[in-house]
Amino acid sequence: MPSASAAAAAPAPVQSLPPLNPSGLTSPPAAADLPAAIEALRRQRKAVILAHYYQEPEIQDIADVIGDSLELSRRAAATDAEVILFCGVHFMAETAKILNPGRTVLVPDLAAGCSLADGCPADAFAAFRAQHPDHYVVSYINCSAAVKAQSDLICTSSNAVALVRQLPEDRPILFAPDANLGRWVARLTGRALTLWPGSCIVHETFSEQALLQLQLEHPEAEVIAHPECQPHLLDLADFIGSTSKLLERVQSSPAPSFIVLTEPGILHQMHLRAPHKTLLAVPGSDGCSCNACPYMRLNTLEKVWHALATLEPAIELEEELRLRALVPIQRMLAMSA
Ligand code: 13P
Ligand code: SF4
Repeated sequence: MPSASAAAAAPAPVQSLPPLNPSGLTSPPAAADLPAAIEALRRQRKAVILAHYYQEPEIQDIADVIGDSLELSRRAAATDAEVILFCGVHFMAETAKILNPGRTVLVPDLAAGCSLADGCPADAFAAFRAQHPDHYVVSYINCSAAVKAQSDLICTSSNAVALVRQLPEDRPILFAPDANLGRWVARLTGRALTLWPGSCIVHETFSEQALLQLQLEHPEAEVIAHPECQPHLLDLADFIGSTSKLLERVQSSPAPSFIVLTEPGILHQMHLRAPHKTLLAVPGSDGCSCNACPYMRLNTLEKVWHALATLEPAIELEEELRLRALVPIQRMLAMSA
């Protein structure tokens, strides 16, 4: 099995940041002027703006890089920007900070959590691991630094199947914190995974009835789903993959329309890259719009402006924890290179 490279020592903190709020403004400009004001601040701060596909379209439109969790981790690992503004949720920015201890890593809203990360507290996870001392621990990137630090290997929805296939066949595997992703990985790899019982509140809400109705109305449509969805919905899908793989599928498949089982933020890039295709989002189980991630949607352009203007809120991590969490992330990057 490949081993992680030696944990990197923390470089010296960046010294060259301009004073607080170089724009001179004390409050954000009018909404119409925000994109230009953010671009000016981004240049002054020598910042890179990374955005997940689940962000609001207006945030995706001002980002330097839009990607899934794996692509954004890779870009965070490779950046030479002085400031990383991560438009996503906390665990994503924390991963960027683990990889970049000497850079300032900002988030628009510190409260942007994740039901998977929040549902897997480090102490309960330690107790779970203790019940399975011989298991190799594979954790989905949607977890805290304290859980990463207890893991042998990190994965994302893009590389989970490929990584598990590389693990020795005689070694039992503990998979956390997304049980739906774990069940899908187990099915594709033929490995019996011991699962932490976590789930994504967004991907748990899709209505099977609404999906079946859409299939009846659009028999020509391909059903595409994120592996965080429940197994009975994945059974109805023609194609399963991470957000970036779903985006590629919409571009490459000959189907004229798609029924999409993931957070609807992804529809923006799908519309931009395949404008002639019809996209149908599956609603939540009671017709609600709860298929939109409430954490991702905490981020706004005003908060992006504020973060670049004030260099807050910034992610901070205790160095000993960072170094332990870095090892399984580096192992993932090495194994999925
Ligand atoms: P990916 O970015 O791996 O597609 O995962 C989606 C997700 O839920 C991120 O929180
Ligand atoms: Fe977490 Fe689900 Fe939101 Fe992704 S969509 S950040 S897994 S709650």
